[in-house]
Amino acid sequence: MSVRRLHEQQPEAFAFSEDNLVWAGEQIAKYPEGRQASAILPLLWQAQKQGGGWLSEPAIRCVADMLDMPYIRALEVATFYSMFNLSPVGEHFVQLCGTTPCWLRGADDLKAVCRKIIGEQGNVTEDGKLSWLEVECLGACVNAPMVQINDDFFEDLTADTFERLLEDLRHGREVATGPQNGRQASAPEGGPTVLKGNM
Ligand code: FES
Repeated sequence: MSVRRLHEQQPEAFAFSEDNLVWAGEQIAKYPEGRQASAILPLLWQAQKQGGGWLSEPAIRCVADMLDMPYIRALEVATFYSMFNLSPVGEHFVQLCGTTPCWLRGADDLKAVCRKIIGEQGNVTEDGKLSWLEVECLGACVNAPMVQINDDFFEDLTADTFERLLEDLRHGREVATGPQNGRQASAPEGGPTVLKGNM
């Protein structure tokens, strides 16, 4: 696992928005008295969302204070899970699956597209639109190779369709999520191969 450090440039402070404070209170209330620390994952996740896709040190401290936890324990959680970004990300954050099924189906070609359009992992494009990271299996191997961009999956990619997708996102054009080769979900390419006759 790579070393995960806090970003060298940090904001002065972090505070949850009013809506998020209400939401956080509801999460904390789900746990019995004395077990509020159990809410750390959803609270860090919400702090990351509010922070534009990454977790700053003040945000981690803010969550620790809300849960009455030592800062070091909150830092341990934030630096352990790769779902938490410790550096700024692009408006469209690409998580590229490089695990075996995706690798066998062309993940390296997708990585080459990332390097061409975005640069190395962790780099944010000058317009702030794109960044990428290689991750482990995202559970959509049947549609390999695939990427997750923000909350959406884009599957059955080729270098060409992926490059077009990144350009569309960058320029604010509408994109379709899911398979990019026309197949329906994870059905066979070209349509059904069984149960085609009259029942
Ligand atoms: S190996 Fe890529 S989604 Fe599972």
